[in-house]
Amino acid sequence: MLVDYSKIEAKDKYKLMSGGIIPRPIAWIVTENEKGIINVAPFSYFTGLSSNPPTLIVSIGHKSNGEPKDTLKNIRDSKKCTLCLAKEEQLEPMHFSSKELESDISEATHFNIATKKILEDFPPIISGVPLAFFCTLYKEIELGGSKTIPLILKIKSEYINDSAIDKDLRTDFSAIARLGGEYTFLSSKITPPKIED
Ligand SMILES: Cc1cc2nc3c(=O)[nH]c(=O)nc-3n(C[C@H](O)[C@H](O)[C@H](O)COP(=O)(O)O)c2cc1C
Repeated sequence: MLVDYSKIEAKDKYKLMSGGIIPRPIAWIVTENEKGIINVAPFSYFTGLSSNPPTLIVSIGHKSNGEPKDTLKNIRDSKKCTLCLAKEEQLEPMHFSSKELESDISEATHFNIATKKILEDFPPIISGVPLAFFCTLYKEIELGGSKTIPLILKIKSEYINDSAIDKDLRTDFSAIARLGGEYTFLSSKITPPKIED
């Protein structure tokens, strides 16, 4: 089967790309709107870009009514977000928080997702997450009129739960990743074989 992307519909491109680019990490993003309402939502078009400068990219689209998703609007307005990585036990609240709610309803309140303030000038983390990046908006990428907007975020600080890292800064937790429309847990590590000189 050979698929010419100029001949298929957007929903099929999404199916093929999300089923092929696997596993995708999930950015569980916390933002705050101008009224102080905490917004929580997951995004899997997300990856690291560079460690120097420490940057990552996440692509966020629009709601069914055509307005920018709350996360996109809040990041544009406040230039900030707190990007959490969920652990295996948090699959259910993470998934529930993807429900499209009115902007003035917080997913944190609606789904009873506890949050915890770590840095005064950033949105809170979701309680219990192994790690979180406190980010500022660096740049929006223009993708030829696309409704999905890639945002480059700069990492200012990182929170890591002590149980999720060792003294050599190696993290260890069972992360959730997206496999097409399903999920998987990334709980086993394989040490790479040594490449001889
Ligand atoms: C695991 C998962 C990954 C998702 N990834 C994305 C994504 O990369 N980009 C996007 O626009 N929406 C993505 N969504 C959908 C958003 O989470 C959903 O539209 C949510 O309602 C947005 O909330 P907000 O309006 O509060 O920002 C994803 C949903 C799930 C469950």
